[in-house]
Amino acid sequence: MLEGRSLIEPGDFSLEEMNALFSLAEKIETGKNFLRESCRGRLLASLFFEPSTRTRLSFEAAMLRLGGSCLGFAEPGSSSAAKGESLSDTIRTVSCYADVIVMRNPKEGAALLASRVASVPVINAGDGGHHHPTQTLTDLLTIKRLRGALGGFTIGFCGDLKFGRTVHSLAKTLARYQGIKQIFISPPELTVPNYITKGVLEKEGIPYQEAEKLEDVISSLDVLYMTRVQRERFFNEEDYIRLKDFYVLTREKMEAAKQDMIVLHPLPRVNEIAAEVDADPRAVYFEQARYGMYIRMALLASILGAAPC
Ligand code: NCD
Repeated sequence: MLEGRSLIEPGDFSLEEMNALFSLAEKIETGKNFLRESCRGRLLASLFFEPSTRTRLSFEAAMLRLGGSCLGFAEPGSSSAAKGESLSDTIRTVSCYADVIVMRNPKEGAALLASRVASVPVINAGDGGHHHPTQTLTDLLTIKRLRGALGGFTIGFCGDLKFGRTVHSLAKTLARYQGIKQIFISPPELTVPNYITKGVLEKEGIPYQEAEKLEDVISSLDVLYMTRVQRERFFNEEDYIRLKDFYVLTREKMEAAKQDMIVLHPLPRVNEIAAEVDADPRAVYFEQARYGMYIRMALLASILGAAPC
């Protein structure tokens, strides 16, 4: 049962619980009125201390489509955080008004702290370079719907694997499924943290490989997960400028990829995927954004006790 539960990192939910969410999301996608109005009278607070387009708007769209309502802020400058209020005081206050809180914050661990002081469930919408569990649910649902199964494939993560929280959450979660090989493609300065390669993959005996050139491995991939270089997490602008265009996926590079490979990207994209690739049917990142709304509808309805999950 997910009713009343917080979601801080993907490991908080069992594989069975995630599967139940995928089934609900599929029903929402295919049955037009499924769960509509199930959250009437309930309130979602979205507290975004960092910029967001998809995550915040898909959560709000999800709540509105369930018949519920939303309140919150899209940037901390308009909240009392700008006056120096502590995160715990903000969360305690918002707990008095809303039934569920979705929060994004630049500090690793902020969502966990919030869940400890909140009297309502807290959903982590990204805490610094740490985790982004609802993006992971989105990514898994996309792979499941477009490939048919969550297993038996090779995935390549490409770009900023050091600071990219979507990569950290997804790589850790894929290690819980069978028959998945992970290939990490990054410049040496932006490699995936050891706590994932050594701490999770090696410990669990999950096959993985590290590479620097996308061209060297693209032909072996079933899923390519592109990411943006996370400018806001760099200590100096020079390093960002040097690394920002390290990878650019072009039509030419796509020629070497399998015909049924799919390209995912959590978005926003900057330069790492050329616009010409959008027309390739293997580019599914906008579909992925749509799945993000369905899975968030399933999640909100379950956490609020409005769905059988
Ligand atoms: C990502 C994020 O915020 O971590 N975006 C998202 O939520 N879809 C990826 C990013 O900002 O690069």
